[in-house]
Amino acid sequence: MLKVNFKPSESYVEKAMDALDVLNGRQGRGSDFLGWMDLPSGTDGSIIEGCENIAAEWKQKGVQVAVVIGIGGSYLGAKAALEALSHPFGMNRPGIEVVFAGFNLSEDYHAGLLDYIRDKSVAAVVISKSGTTTEPAVAFRIIKEEIERRYGRAEAASRIVAVTDKARGALKSLSDQEGYRTFVIPDNVGGRFSVLTPVGLLPIAVAGYDIRALLKGAADMAETCFRRDAGNPALLYAAARNELYDSGKKIEILVNFDPSLQYFGEWWKQLFGESEGKDGKGIFPASVNYTTDLHSMGQYIQEGERILFETVISVGHARRELTICDDPQNLDGLNFLSGKHLEHCNRMAEAGTRLAHIDGGVPNNRISVERIDEYCLGELFMLFEAACGISAYILGVNPFDQPGVEAYKKNMFALLGKPGYEAQAEVIRKRLD
Ligand code: PA5
Repeated sequence: MLKVNFKPSESYVEKAMDALDVLNGRQGRGSDFLGWMDLPSGTDGSIIEGCENIAAEWKQKGVQVAVVIGIGGSYLGAKAALEALSHPFGMNRPGIEVVFAGFNLSEDYHAGLLDYIRDKSVAAVVISKSGTTTEPAVAFRIIKEEIERRYGRAEAASRIVAVTDKARGALKSLSDQEGYRTFVIPDNVGGRFSVLTPVGLLPIAVAGYDIRALLKGAADMAETCFRRDAGNPALLYAAARNELYDSGKKIEILVNFDPSLQYFGEWWKQLFGESEGKDGKGIFPASVNYTTDLHSMGQYIQEGERILFETVISVGHARRELTICDDPQNLDGLNFLSGKHLEHCNRMAEAGTRLAHIDGGVPNNRISVERIDEYCLGELFMLFEAACGISAYILGVNPFDQPGVEAYKKNMFALLGKPGYEAQAEVIRKRLD
């Protein structure tokens, strides 16, 4: 079981207890979106089997690449899990290679993707809760056309699966019309809390990883995270980060010491950034990969403005073993490391960094997991989701909306000439002159 070392003061633990009561009472702000709390143990077996069956079917068909199309909460959870679980150089895949699209509007990215899949057997999972988000809709148009051109419309229907709302949105209508199989994103689960729905489960299953173990890790964590208990790790984390925020630490850096967790940091940033950054409030979530970023951001963190604190995801065991070899000449002077595991050096780097940063005025706390596998990822996803709900309620904001995301969309639609935005377009164009 995952462990944390946060030590918030009594008064913040009490605030967190109150916030947890609001969450558990399901009466707080945004309480229509609390379905994620029940997902780990409440996910219907047919959903899990449905994801596994698509994975098996596509593998049997010889699909080599599955393009997963989505943005924000509709892709970051799966991306985080797959980056964490996969071989760093793409070897030994247990399932189908998964690549992502629709999370940007880059012509070069999507043209490059078409180059990459050209000679490979391809399938697609298109994910959008609203079914109307521009980035994935544009990417899907391109990938759908490619799949239909290569295989024909009937076969395309077996190679495309949509994950969307049960009734609403353009993606649902299109799926019904084209005969795509669909998975539902429940009404009461928002995008950034949806990794344990088919939004995350389907791509992770297609890539060949164990979604049952992921859900088990999350379920075990959920048992602890909603308990009114002073040892509840989500409660302690939420309390500690709010105490730090109130003391002037406005930026939280999620730290990893393994590059496979880089995208976990991206998922975490969206979770907290979109949930808490509103009403002029909120900790700014940042992330770093150590030791890499100790040679880029390390200077600022050690000696820059003292508005930072760190939360380290500390991993107990590496998955592989590699020791440092001896060199009889010892020209690099590194023989003091001969025979030592690289992991040992990484641990010492972690411990040394912790002390240096604490000495430099950067509070440093730790969330420790045994290893990076499906179970532990499930624990982490659940811990952070629960902590986010509690933390945002302590802060006094609605964790489950994202009104600020609309502002850029309106301007972009106006500038792109979307019907209905004509008046706005005129005003905006003048501002851009
Ligand atoms: O967390 C959220 O709600 C957002 O990040 C959404 O997931 C993102 O905007 C994508 O939305 P949709 O799934 O409707 O395409």
